[in-house]
Amino acid sequence: MNIHSFAQKKLAAQKISMVTCYDAWSAKLISRTPIDCLLVGDSAAMVMHGHATTVPMTTDVMVWHTAAVARAAPRKFIVGDMPFCSYRQGLSQAVAAAQQLMQAGAHAVKLEGAEGNLEIIHHLVHSGIPVMGHLGLTPQAFHTLGGFKVQAREQHQAELLKQQALAIQQAGCFAVVLECIPASLAQQVTQQLAIPTIGIGAGPNTDGQVLVLHDLLGLDPDFNPKFCKRFMNGHALIEAALTAYHDEVTAKQFPSVPDHCFQ
Ligand code: KIV
Repeated sequence: MNIHSFAQKKLAAQKISMVTCYDAWSAKLISRTPIDCLLVGDSAAMVMHGHATTVPMTTDVMVWHTAAVARAAPRKFIVGDMPFCSYRQGLSQAVAAAQQLMQAGAHAVKLEGAEGNLEIIHHLVHSGIPVMGHLGLTPQAFHTLGGFKVQAREQHQAELLKQQALAIQQAGCFAVVLECIPASLAQQVTQQLAIPTIGIGAGPNTDGQVLVLHDLLGLDPDFNPKFCKRFMNGHALIEAALTAYHDEVTAKQFPSVPDHCFQ
């Protein structure tokens, strides 16, 4: 997968699979699968660091996550999320933040929203930095949206989102994430754009899908959003393994002689 594969897959009506990845061990596992694209999402703020939103994420932390993923999955296409406000303080700061992510190993960056971002997208793209857009539920806008909610349910909001999608395509985005919008709207946006759409909570008729790795593996017992399918009951498997380890240690069964001992 490279930057051209996104357009090629859309033309060939082949779906794009993307998954979040924040660290080396999961990057190594994903690199053994056919998954097309890794997103070092700023959702790491919530999933890895326990914050309630993505707002506390910083460029420095994103650089650490991106570099870890790039070291462990050198043959995968990696998108690095630009964190909250890192691209809203002028073109030179936006380029500096994107430069750090690219030099850490990202092949593209992702930023949220259209309003006020068109010049930034154009400038990044013409600085050699591919940009993925992100419309609909833009989690960095948690405080202006008033929470994590399905977006663009009303007709006028849907029309605005369609205009925004065309605008970021025109500004140079090579793909766009559509998060938590009605499936029919996602389908219309997908049909009107030349660039691929990658949906999360946007129904089946986008050009690709993205999920948070931990959600699709079922690693958090308390988080199972409607749009996510658990492809594994990961937390139960891990809890069982750790309980078995604890039980064997306390029962003096592990380590066993000679299997786990140096003679
Ligand atoms: O940060 C992230 O994980 C994302 C996905 C939800 C698309 O932006």
